[in-house]
Amino acid sequence: MSYLIGVDCGTSGTKTVLFEENGTVVASKTIEYPMYQPKNGYAEQDPADWANAMINTIRAVMSDSGVNKNDVKGVGISGQMHGLVMLDKNGEPLRRSIIWCDQRTSVQVDKMNKLIGREKLIEITANPALTGWTAAKILWVRDNEPDIYEKCCHILLPKDYLRYVLTGEFATEVSDASGMQLLDVPNRCWSKEICGGLGIDMSLLAKVHESCEVTGKVTAKMAEATGLAQGTIVVGGAGDNAAAAVGTGVVEDGKAFTTIGTSGVVFAHTSTISVDPKGRVHTCCAAVPGCWHVMGVTQGAGLSLKWFRDNFCDSEKETARYMGVDEYYLMDKEAETVEVGANRLLYLPYLMGERTPHLDPDARGVFFGLSAMHTKKEMLRAVMEGVSYSLRDCVEVFREMNINVSDMMACGGGGTSPLWRSMLADLYCCPVKTVASKEGPALGVALLAAVGAGIYSSVPQACKAVIKTDKVQQPNDKNTAAYEKYYQLYREIYPALKASFAKLAAM
Ligand code: XUL
Repeated sequence: MSYLIGVDCGTSGTKTVLFEENGTVVASKTIEYPMYQPKNGYAEQDPADWANAMINTIRAVMSDSGVNKNDVKGVGISGQMHGLVMLDKNGEPLRRSIIWCDQRTSVQVDKMNKLIGREKLIEITANPALTGWTAAKILWVRDNEPDIYEKCCHILLPKDYLRYVLTGEFATEVSDASGMQLLDVPNRCWSKEICGGLGIDMSLLAKVHESCEVTGKVTAKMAEATGLAQGTIVVGGAGDNAAAAVGTGVVEDGKAFTTIGTSGVVFAHTSTISVDPKGRVHTCCAAVPGCWHVMGVTQGAGLSLKWFRDNFCDSEKETARYMGVDEYYLMDKEAETVEVGANRLLYLPYLMGERTPHLDPDARGVFFGLSAMHTKKEMLRAVMEGVSYSLRDCVEVFREMNINVSDMMACGGGGTSPLWRSMLADLYCCPVKTVASKEGPALGVALLAAVGAGIYSSVPQACKAVIKTDKVQQPNDKNTAAYEKYYQLYREIYPALKASFAKLAAM
């Protein structure tokens, strides 16, 4: 029997899963770590936390499973996208990573538009300059921490830092590199024009591979630390969204998925490149060689529910502990008792600014329509509905771009909630399915490793062999009509507040 390992370096923790080659989970381990928010709108993590979590989770799955290390045929790494890791000449991190949801770079985004031009940026990188993407963060460090910039010899993304720890190689792959805003996305290589225009030395960047290519091998030191065999191959892997696409079988035209993780993502596969001229959704290289994807991102999806849980749901946490169930399960049950529309309460999930469709780092969360009659359960339902409205915003942009979203999978922590899935089905007006394996990104990169190891001949072939559909949630016409009225009102709130958000940010 052959085995594969998928490592997913997420925002709340790193999860490592050991799979049989047919996708069956053998062992899984997650280690959590903090996110630091030294200022409003800042978000950082410590690369050492990621590395320790990766090493300890791999060691745990290897020892828990008792699998022979020589039977592990490959490792794939997936990760949160856009994070900036800067290393010195000895390969040591120079500062904490500025991660995907950090919004400090408005000045640098303006600078990018001036230096390169908005149209040119969209033409080459397939996306407008974005505050959360890596290029603006590089410029921020150069502008604000010149001493650190001076010492920087390597720039890596979060999962590529883990690859460096595991193999000693400075490498990346097309799907995650697309989110740096330095890649020529149509041609799948670093752009001389963008790097030159921004004054970023290309020698700082890692070698770009396709996602299923072998990028390096586990070193002797890491073999010792993790329990893997020295020389085990590590493939390119993918950004968490491109990895989730492989793990849910979204590898051909017509297929799409919605993830509700910390962020919320609506993702569709495209075999030809398709770019939103208004830059509201991202276009990136897919983990399938020669293909692309478009994705709309809402910054505060699962993050909104976690924020609500951590600040208002101590009693649910306690009851859940007492009953031995997940606290989110109880919160779901509580929200289910409230009707569509949360008794005329709406929520805007912009706790960390918003990307699709507003591209506004200054936007912030709102409860709209709060009345003395509302209780916690209506607020809870409003949070879940508000996140669903923001995901529907993404689907609206796809529809404008003529991208078909009729075959929709749900994944991420929020995708396991039947209530959330029903909201999506009602708001998208299409069936929302789940896949039998809940491992999304970890399974996706394990399958990329299986292709790199020669177990499957291509990414679509690996998906065909492994991915099975599970539950199907059909839309309910009555609820669709009810949600539509609230959604149309939801769409009016942000434009009415846009100028006020900017004033608040300037205070
Ligand atoms: C995608 C994005 C997030 C992160 C975190 O553009 O920023 O989905 O990858 O998971």
